[in-house]
Amino acid sequence: MTADSLVATLRQAVGDSHVLTDDDLRAGYETDWLNKYHGTARCVVRPGTVDEVVAVVKACAAADASIVPQGGNTGLVGGSVPRGGEVVLRTRRLDRLDPVDLRALQVTVGAGVTIEALQQHARAAGLDFAVDWGARASATVGGAVSTNAGGSRVVRFGTMRAQVMGLQAVLADGSVVTHLSGLPKETAGPQLHHLFIGSEGTLGIVTAARLRLVPWYRQTAAALVACESVADAVSLLPALRSLPSLDAVELLMPEALHVACEYLGISPPLHDDFAGAFVMVDCAAHTDPTADLAGVVGDRRGVMALGPQRDQLYRIRDHVTIAIGAKGVPVKLDVAVPVDRLDELLQRVRAVVAPIDGAELIVFGHLAEGNVHINVLGALDHAAAFTDAVLQTAIDLGGTISAEHGIGVAKVHWMERLKGPASMHAMAAVKQALDPQELLNPGVLHCLR
Ligand code: FAD
Ligand code: MLT
Ligand code: ZN
Repeated sequence: MTADSLVATLRQAVGDSHVLTDDDLRAGYETDWLNKYHGTARCVVRPGTVDEVVAVVKACAAADASIVPQGGNTGLVGGSVPRGGEVVLRTRRLDRLDPVDLRALQVTVGAGVTIEALQQHARAAGLDFAVDWGARASATVGGAVSTNAGGSRVVRFGTMRAQVMGLQAVLADGSVVTHLSGLPKETAGPQLHHLFIGSEGTLGIVTAARLRLVPWYRQTAAALVACESVADAVSLLPALRSLPSLDAVELLMPEALHVACEYLGISPPLHDDFAGAFVMVDCAAHTDPTADLAGVVGDRRGVMALGPQRDQLYRIRDHVTIAIGAKGVPVKLDVAVPVDRLDELLQRVRAVVAPIDGAELIVFGHLAEGNVHINVLGALDHAAAFTDAVLQTAIDLGGTISAEHGIGVAKVHWMERLKGPASMHAMAAVKQALDPQELLNPGVLHCLR
């Protein structure tokens, strides 16, 4: 037992076994998924109820000890691991799963519930949860709310923000804001809980969420289409958007398709040496959407992917990030621009990468939102200059420096260029009002210092 009296208080609050102080026990919580961000925690605490979260927050506030909320630790911008000396508050034990409300098509769940467990819970009631991405087995509802997660189905259902009907959060003073009624209509002042969506653990600790559910469309059909260029891929969007069953439109540049297939030890489902880009389209409905999809992509170079072939396509898509990570630590950017500027963005990115000896550019993402994940291997020495060039280009093209991963510590110094002084001032005022001691995830999102 360390002499640290805060640790003793935390042990009283949550129980001995849920306060980790030994190096080896803390280690798994101190490095991010990319193996890029690392810090030593004062301790890791794992509360199991809202009241325990309140007790932890109050104890930390009294000890002026900063807190890093951590869900599944799959974040990609360094926001979920300590910078040094903070208390990591792990939310995975906040795992309530209330019964699905079939009348309201909603459910209330704990922040520590994984996306996959939520999907299974919804499907067991014949419904579905709308946000999906490769880290579903580890990413949590609290993390998804706090990063406004996107994923492949945004084109149909929107981001996490569109799924949140209400939240419960513990503020830095230990007070609890609860808004879980799920009422579709309420106009009684600003919706406070919206503040926590995308706040990356800096304004409050999400402990529960009231989420909308969507129909479970079990009839599916997918296709992988070879396009001449990104501009050609973008030209597919109007026809694809005319499909009521459209569920995902993912962009895979040739190198992304190949790195994932290589990692999986499979040959690409489509061999096309002339393709400048590949588009993975998924359709889902209550009736078979194959004919609809074939009607739009049938005359293009590509393959339809039904049943196991569709599963294989998703396996490839889900493994692009993992495959890149297996090759090294990339400079990883998550930008979005208006889709009609996407081709220009990628041309300018290629021009920035070209002079970097040994750099390997791998691009993929979510085509309909103009959201691309720009990964460069072998360029860590050039990270700052490359990042600056790409983020500035995204801003110049009317886009954003973070489409779905958040800002974390990775992009905090580009916030002013994106948001402008007035918005930065307003954000700082909100942070100051809700967390005057700057206990919650200092260094993330807000460059207050
Ligand atoms: P963590 O990583 O633990 O935390 C993320 C941030 O949220 C941190 O700032 C943390 O402090 C804060 N936080 C966590 N829980 C809480 C809480 N309860 N209250 C307050 N703050 C909290 N993201 C996408 O949007 N789309 C994708 O397609 C996508 N694909 C991915 C694929 C892979 C293979 C991986 C590894 C990641 C991917 N991500 C994607 C990124 C990541 O999964 C998301 O950002 C996810 O929302 C993080 O959830 P988490 O529970 O792991 O949060
Ligand atoms: C994805 O779309 O696979 C994710 O956002 C992960 C990534 O960008 O690496
Ligand atoms: Zn993504």
